[in-house]
Amino acid sequence: MEVLVLPTPADVARRAAEVVLEGLAAARRAAPVVGLATGSSPLGLYAELAAAVRAGRLDLSGATGFALDEYVGLPPGHPQSYREVLLREVCGPLGLSAERLHVPDGSGRTEAELVEGAARYERLIAESGGVDVQILGIGANGHLGFNEPGSALSSRTRVKRLSDRTRHDNARFFDGIEDVPTHCVTQGLGTVLDARQLVLVASGTAKAAAVAAALEGPLSASCPASVLQWHADATAVLDEDAAALLRNRDYYDASAAGL
Ligand code: GLP
Repeated sequence: MEVLVLPTPADVARRAAEVVLEGLAAARRAAPVVGLATGSSPLGLYAELAAAVRAGRLDLSGATGFALDEYVGLPPGHPQSYREVLLREVCGPLGLSAERLHVPDGSGRTEAELVEGAARYERLIAESGGVDVQILGIGANGHLGFNEPGSALSSRTRVKRLSDRTRHDNARFFDGIEDVPTHCVTQGLGTVLDARQLVLVASGTAKAAAVAAALEGPLSASCPASVLQWHADATAVLDEDAAALLRNRDYYDASAAGL
């Protein structure tokens, strides 16, 4: 695991974009597969990647994108559905084809339909050859995607209830807490771990405790993001505030300085 600590969120976005660009180049696939996170954390990173596309350093026109998660029950085209968010923030600016953007299906009306949609999503990822670079944020409660504390470390894409904490955190994107869906379909932690490379971005003091638990606490379902420790190629790119509670900071900085 590599931990890179930068002064500001803008530096985090720039550095994380470099890590993603290197990862996609190393994938050596004409049509790479990118794992896409939502939330506010990766927005700066997406803006940097869009700049790289404009500068001719990145071409995602043949790439495929897989979202981490989706709310259950939002009407098609709802501006806060993760499909719409990714169409806005990624497909347009980065030139990723909307036809090759895949998002878990939260439109099922029965549990059986949602379960079938989740299984279909797992098959789609496998048929694509797997995710080359997975972009990740982290919830203030340590969630990854929408894998809330208690999620099985080997879980696959499935329907889950959102925690009260997550619903309150995400209420800012809706008119009020009562509009935030209660359920989601999320890639499992096992699904995330199958990606060849993980790149987590986090900024701000609100994430400091979750980041410390994820990177330096025990590998535990109580902190789903701690699965980063299990992955052979994971990088966390943090600003000073998000890194404030890390104990091994000196080591990370020395390692980041190179051999
Ligand atoms: C959201 C998403 C996660 C995201 C996290 C943090 O609800 N499902 O994938 O990483 O919560 O969000 P933010 O970056 O806005 O703090």
